[in-house]
This record gives sequence, C-alpha cells and structure tokens, in this order.
Amino acid sequence: MPLVGTKEMFSKAYKEGYAIGAFNVNNMEIIQGITEAAKEENAPLILQVSAGARKYANHTYLVKLVEAALIETNLPICLHLDHGDSFELCKSCIDGGFTSVMIDGSHLAFEDNIALTRKVVEYAHAHNVVVEGELGRLAGVEDEVKVAEEHAFYTDPAEAQEFVEKTGVDSLAIAIGTSHGAYKFKSEPMLRFDILEEVGRRLPNFPIVLHGASSVLPEYVDMINKFGGKMPGAKGVPEDMLRKAASMAVCKINIDSDLRLAMTALIRKSFAEDPANFDPRKYLAPARDAIRSVVRHKLVNVLGCNGKA
Ligand code: G3H
Ligand code: 13P
Ligand code: ZN
Repeated sequence: MPLVGTKEMFSKAYKEGYAIGAFNVNNMEIIQGITEAAKEENAPLILQVSAGARKYANHTYLVKLVEAALIETNLPICLHLDHGDSFELCKSCIDGGFTSVMIDGSHLAFEDNIALTRKVVEYAHAHNVVVEGELGRLAGVEDEVKVAEEHAFYTDPAEAQEFVEKTGVDSLAIAIGTSHGAYKFKSEPMLRFDILEEVGRRLPNFPIVLHGASSVLPEYVDMINKFGGKMPGAKGVPEDMLRKAASMAVCKINIDSDLRLAMTALIRKSFAEDPANFDPRKYLAPARDAIRSVVRHKLVNVLGCNGKA
C-alpha cells in the first residue's frame, strides 16, 4: 500500500469518535517500534518528521525507512511534516514524497499566518498533499524554540473559523492548554474543553489537532530517575482528558515526549544493569520494545483507533 493522506482517516475518526496517533520519528528503532505496534493493533498511523528530525536523520533515510514500514505492515500510513516553519520547507517535503505537511504560522500575526498558510495550501493541494495549520500558541519547547507559559495563548474559536475559511487548510491545531515537552502543568492539569466545543460548533465535521499530548508516563519518568536521571516534577496530559478530546472534534493527537521518555528510560536501565556492554543492539532493542508497548497502550487505551485500519 502506498503512503496515504489524512482525508479518509480523519473523516472516519470524526464520525466514530476516535483519534489517529501522530508519532514523531527520528531513527529506525523508533519507526520500527511504532509501526510494529500499529500492525499488532491494525491501526492507521501518522508518522511525523520535524525539521530537527530531518536535519538529524536526513530526508531520504527517513522516507526510505517509512517505505520499509509500509512493506512490512501493509497499513495506511501518512508521512507528515511536523511544525513546518516556511513555505520552502513544506515545498521540499511535498516534492520529496510526504503526503501531509504542517505549516506552523502560530507565532505570526493573524493575517500573516493566513497568507503563509494559504500559499502552502495552494502548492500542497496542487500536488495532492493535505495541510495542517496552527492557530493559538502552545507553551513548551520544540526544536530550539522555547515558549514561556506567559507567552502562550488559547485559540479564539471565531478566529479559528475565519482562518479555516480563508486558508482552505485540511485540519487545524488549536491551543487549549496542552504544551510541548515533559513539564506541561505547574499545578492541576486543565484543558479548555469549552474552546474545543465552540470550535467544533463553528466548524462542523472539521478535524482538529492536539499537539503537546504526551501523558509523561510516570513509569518511565520513575525509571529514568531510578537509573541516574533527573526529572523531578515532570507532568503530562491525563489520559482521560485525551480520550474526551478524541470523542469530540480532535482527530489527530501528537505524541513525541512519551516515546523519548520510554526510549531513554530503557537505555539508562540497560547501561545500569550491564555497564560492560558496548553492543548498541543490546540497549536499542529494549528501547524499541518500550516504544512498541507505549504505542500499543496509546492506540488501544487513549486514541481508540485500534482495529480501524
Ligand atoms: O513538537 C515538537 C516535537 O516534539 C518534535 O521535537 O523539533 O525536537 O524534533 P523536535
Ligand atoms: P509532546 O511533547 O507532548 O509529546 O508533543 C509532541 C508534539 O506536539 C509534536 O508536534
Ligand atoms: Zn507540536
């Protein structure tokens, strides 16, 4: 099966009240862990590549690894650019075989975000590629950009409607209180479901995207701390909130930090338990297994997209 876009995935997910997992990929073990889990659960999948991942692993390597996963799994897989920050980057991914791109103009003035997003949509649609836009600003760290909590802001539903109408985007990431990274809430986790509801009312049947949706699984934070790491106070989005979002207009849920934590935890454990080992396979295999188990858990217990491929 060739790479697919998200149109069909999202329309089915919207109707049936579940979400597709969008997992960040940086290397072979991560791609294998995620896609093995999806195969076991017969789940549709979005594999997403950030500008940093593309710089680290190289565009061609990532595309070829994902093509290998298609052959191995025969699942509907979408290859998506995460947080594209320019027309040129989006164009390069579209020309290089991606089936979906995100143009993130959330840091721009509203009209400038519309103009940039519109330009990407025109090019992408002419090449049969779908586009995700973003409106509102999440706190947290992504690539080298750090957004402090006081500079983050929630999405305005009326602006979301105008943005979608004027740009023609296929999906929209909104800010309702999630944030990137492993430190999401200083006090009690709180998401603005009222904003999500109002966006859903104004944009019927339109797929909404939730970034910064890792739960920062305590099992792996504890393992990291047990084996010499230091992550006191790490806190993520509670899974019941994600399930609720998936039953509403949210069709795509972005997860990266939980995979990083699982991988790091198992590598730390492996080094601690076998300090004489210098065979990378012996610490990368358990890390890959941990990713597979985290992704299976997300597909079945959080996203509800198991059996939907
Ligand atoms: O939202 C950002 C993702 O977690 C990707 O992170 O830009 O460090 O690859 P990265
Ligand atoms: P997390 O940092 O919560 O995993 O979010 C990832 C993300 O939004 C990627 O775009
Ligand atoms: Zn993101």
